[in-house]
Amino acid sequence: MNSAETPPPYGTGAQPGGTPAATPIARIRTHHLQSAKNEGRKFAMLTAYDQYAAEIFDTAGIEVLLIGDSAANNVLGHATTLPITLDEMILFSRAVTRGAKRALVVADLPFGSYEVSPAQGVESSVRLMKEGLVHAVKMEGGAHHAETVRAIVRAGIPVMAHVGFTPQSEHALGGYRVQGKADAGRQVIDDAVALAEAGAFCVLMEMVPADVAAEVDRTVSVPTIGIGAGSATTGQVLVWQDMAGLRSGRQAKFVKQFADVRSVLADAARAYGDQVRDGSFPGPEHSF
Ligand code: KIV
Repeated sequence: MNSAETPPPYGTGAQPGGTPAATPIARIRTHHLQSAKNEGRKFAMLTAYDQYAAEIFDTAGIEVLLIGDSAANNVLGHATTLPITLDEMILFSRAVTRGAKRALVVADLPFGSYEVSPAQGVESSVRLMKEGLVHAVKMEGGAHHAETVRAIVRAGIPVMAHVGFTPQSEHALGGYRVQGKADAGRQVIDDAVALAEAGAFCVLMEMVPADVAAEVDRTVSVPTIGIGAGSATTGQVLVWQDMAGLRSGRQAKFVKQFADVRSVLADAARAYGDQVRDGSFPGPEHSF
């Protein structure tokens, strides 16, 4: 595609310094994220697991939507991301891709769907693309998965690499912990470089020290995305229920709540219940 015809990925979102929104574009592609990195601009990614969240975030100008395997603990009620299946990821992907008209839509390869071999990774990715209708896949893991990334990319499927803390390996990593502290920072950088060289169009880093993430962003030419990785990455991502304050309980340090949707919903449910019980709903205007 001719990049001269396609403005950068900021159809509606404000830029630092208040730069006005550019002309809206039809669909954000991986090359728009690369342009953002090349031109020193930022972009935003949020998770989405259903049609309405997808539509709302898409309309709000969020450039990338992720059907994260975090649907396991944010939708299905599991304690970790491990139990979610490829079939479940496909179902959520179908809902999100129906709701998103402009965003680049990326789906996670869930635990167990790519580790056995590059061929397994290709087969699972093809299902997410063909049945889930997503535009790219995301894969957790370090340099040891470079062959699988290469194979998926060779199949014509864009891959977002996910390094640093990788929740699917939480038992091997000893729980939710920052990765890449002190000397271990070298491993995060080496993983990112190996996966970018294997063809990943973007490297996402979760819970790594800000200086390590900044070094990765300087070292790889592809865009980077951070969650708990400081401010130097090209993009940022949050789980939407954390961002909007739907989830209760202790939040990770990297979470900022931009709304209190939990209270809004609870107040609405309380008001509805009260009005049903006192007979004021439905009124004549809601009756046929
Ligand atoms: O599954 C997910 O939501 C993720 C993000 C937190 C990056 O992988």
